[in-house]
Amino acid sequence: MKKKITIIDNNSGKKFDFSVIKGSNGPSVVDLSNFYEKTGMFVYDPGFKSTASCHSAITFIDGEKGKLLHRGYSIEDLAKYSDYPEVCFLLLNGELPNKEQKKKFNDILTHHTMLHEQIQRFYSGFRRDSHPMAIMVGIVGALSSFYSEKTHDFSSIEGKWVAVSRLLAKMPTIAAIAYKYSLGQPFIYPNNNLNYSENFLHMLFSTPCGNFKPTKAQTDALDKLLILHADHEQNASTSTVKMAGSSGANPFACIAAGVASLWGPAHGGANESVIRMLYEIKNEKNIASFIKRAKDKNDPFRLMGFGHRVYKNYDPRASVIRKYCHNLLKELNPENFPLLKLATKLEDIALNDKYFIEKKLYPNVDFYSGIILKALGLPESMFTVIFAVSRTIGWISQWKEMTDDINKTQISRPRQLYIGEKKRVFKKISERSMRKNKQMFPNEIS
Ligand code: CMC
Repeated sequence: MKKKITIIDNNSGKKFDFSVIKGSNGPSVVDLSNFYEKTGMFVYDPGFKSTASCHSAITFIDGEKGKLLHRGYSIEDLAKYSDYPEVCFLLLNGELPNKEQKKKFNDILTHHTMLHEQIQRFYSGFRRDSHPMAIMVGIVGALSSFYSEKTHDFSSIEGKWVAVSRLLAKMPTIAAIAYKYSLGQPFIYPNNNLNYSENFLHMLFSTPCGNFKPTKAQTDALDKLLILHADHEQNASTSTVKMAGSSGANPFACIAAGVASLWGPAHGGANESVIRMLYEIKNEKNIASFIKRAKDKNDPFRLMGFGHRVYKNYDPRASVIRKYCHNLLKELNPENFPLLKLATKLEDIALNDKYFIEKKLYPNVDFYSGIILKALGLPESMFTVIFAVSRTIGWISQWKEMTDDINKTQISRPRQLYIGEKKRVFKKISERSMRKNKQMFPNEIS
């Protein structure tokens, strides 16, 4: 029998039935798409804490058990046995590639890495001290003028492939140039003889005076970091990409919207904030006072790198990355990384603190990824950029899944609970007085 849920309006006594839809894994959903038609009311769920915005076959998260699967494969297995391009292929196509497919896919990613010279000239328009994420938003958005609807039909499989392949191949180049620009160093062209992660490190750290030769621990750490951040179902930036895409916007512009959303400190900006927080804490004896602040309801301070909207026990990505973080640091002299020592101490203390235990606030992936990126020699401002490079495959796979579902794609248009003024009579300026006790914007006027 088809499962249903009945909602009873206690005021009118009316009953409304809604069907329950079962997925292949995880909680079922109540189909409330006709809730307004039936009841005349909207469903209120700010922050989408209980709302499934779509159906998807790409990524499954069990927040309670700390599980993350891509197309059915565990993140632990993918990090252990796979590499980033292979995970990209999997997310996009639903299957792991065979030998021949893997080679072809790698060839494509390698041969589209160069940026049009005209795009390179855009960089010089940015302030020298621009945040690289500001540059990323601009440059990725600008790609939509090079790959436009005039020349590509992005609803066709061919057009979608152009968007997917160019974005995946060019994102490391765009990111590396943003970094070089901030340093005032010449841009380094991609090297087709290197794999994805090696090439990315090459473009970031080589100079015309010498090639950077990464160690295995360095390429492994970057590759694993890219895998771990590749997709995370309907998070804020992915939902932003899809919301932009639901109107039929250019896919490069949609990805630029995703980059903007990722930038915030509660999302991708958290790894940058972790390092800034560690600098602020400075040494072990200050940890207690920062923990106290994090618990204080009147203090907006939060322990960066702790807590997750979905993982309420442990972030599985954090357990995987912790190992690679330590491998990398072993290769370097840990004594040169007092920050890691501080981070480990903070992790210990927070994990044993009643407040953090009760609220199930565990270190998330960003807690460790910040330390890895620092150990690779990147400045904090580049951390979210690396995250954006990695998440591009998640964004574009989810965009493709949504747009492939041609009959079901409808413009995302949430409703609201209106709490503003009811209808008012327009007042002439001579009749208006300044309202008291009301915060006006801009402040200078009030
Ligand atoms: N430090 C101190 N208290 C916290 C923290 C924290 N990091 N995170 C949550 N809380 C408290 C919060 O004050 C609230 O307390 P109360 O119930 O007394 O009001 C309670 O825990 C629940 O918080 P919430 O904001 O309702 O939880 P959320 O699920 O909406 O927020 C979060 C998730 C990630 C935004 C939040 O935990 C946070 O701000 N963490 C720090 C930033 C961070 O590390 N973000 C990276 C997330 S992982 C990257 C990704 O996947 O995008």
